[in-house]
Amino acid sequence: MTNGRIGTAALGGNGPEVGVQGLGCMGMSFAYGPADADASRATLERALELGVTLYDTADAYGDGDNERFLAPFLKAHRDEVVVATKFALAIPPDDPDRRIIRNDAPYIRQAVEASLRRLEADVIDLYYMHRRDVNVPIEETVGTMAELVREGKVRQLGLSEVTGDELRAAHGVHPIAAVQSEWSLFSRDIEAKVVPAARELGVTLVPYSPLGRGFLTGSFADAGQDLTADDFRRRMPRFTGDNAAANAALLDPVRTVARSHGATLGQIALAWVHQQAAVHGLPVVPIPGTRRPTRVEENTKATRITLTDEELTLLNPIAAKVAGPRYADMTFTSAGRE
Ligand SMILES: NC(=O)c1ccc[n+]([C@@H]2O[C@H](COP(=O)([O-])OP(=O)(O)OC[C@H]3O[C@@H](n4cnc5c(N)ncnc54)[C@H](OP(=O)(O)O)[C@@H]3O)[C@@H](O)[C@H]2O)c1
Repeated sequence: MTNGRIGTAALGGNGPEVGVQGLGCMGMSFAYGPADADASRATLERALELGVTLYDTADAYGDGDNERFLAPFLKAHRDEVVVATKFALAIPPDDPDRRIIRNDAPYIRQAVEASLRRLEADVIDLYYMHRRDVNVPIEETVGTMAELVREGKVRQLGLSEVTGDELRAAHGVHPIAAVQSEWSLFSRDIEAKVVPAARELGVTLVPYSPLGRGFLTGSFADAGQDLTADDFRRRMPRFTGDNAAANAALLDPVRTVARSHGATLGQIALAWVHQQAAVHGLPVVPIPGTRRPTRVEENTKATRITLTDEELTLLNPIAAKVAGPRYADMTFTSAGRE
């Protein structure tokens, strides 16, 4: 990191170098309560100044709103920015608990055109399958995605929440640059099968929710009491009632390590995720989400923190003690199918 700028990591075997920390843009339009558009725009700009180049969105975030929100920023910085978006998941705005998942060719073809239109872009740098539709063979889905690469609509392919076996099958059809899955001090299930498969195939891991959706920063303790009525986290099992109280107590070792580094809890949580690159021997580019420039500054500084073996020993047992699954319905995750 020079002049506050972060280092870089490869995005897949032949992919571009990106800032070793990306930016999750979802909360700017969706899921985490009211957002201030000006602050979100300032966050995008500040992140770029600090060397963040991978910007993460999806067609599902606000029913296309998040892609539309990113379009002007993308246009202004097209050559500096790697934009990642996703297809497969639809969340009806009037029924936010419902999930419609499709991986078939006609769906993918209309989804990519719609994303390109909303992003006002000629090409998507990294196109993810957001969720797995088990009714469609993964080889067929990736076959369609590979056609989009050949047609110049998409540069690289990614998969979210796939199992190790699904990743291997997909990679056999077309190189997969990145797997995006939840990975944090609270969520380590992907280490069993997905991470080893990614390392073996030369796939970059892009951990989402690396701050445990904010819970690991200590900024809220019980979603039911601390967050607004429309906040998605109020419907997640880990963040309310007895589970939330039990999970808040798990932050004590994070506090201890934070004190010894003069760091925040969030920085220790992110440093732990970044350090998994060395622990597991593969490129890791987490995408913490924030809508505030000062938090991007704080979060990118975590790339400078190295945790000692003793500190890792203190932090590693936390995940096994977490109360509640990471989603109410785990069938949509890799762990739910492995
Ligand atoms: N593939 C998938 O299925 C999937 C699922 C979920 C998310 N994602 C992607 O991953 C990105 C990141 O995940 P996430 O947003 O769910 O969770 P996250 O990055 O773990 O946490 C985001 C939350 O932490 C808060 N936060 C960020 N930095 C902070 C700091 N320094 N101090 C205190 N609070 C801080 C944010 O609030 P403010 O915004 O107010 O700062 C926000 O509420 C998303 O934006 C999205 O692009 C993908």
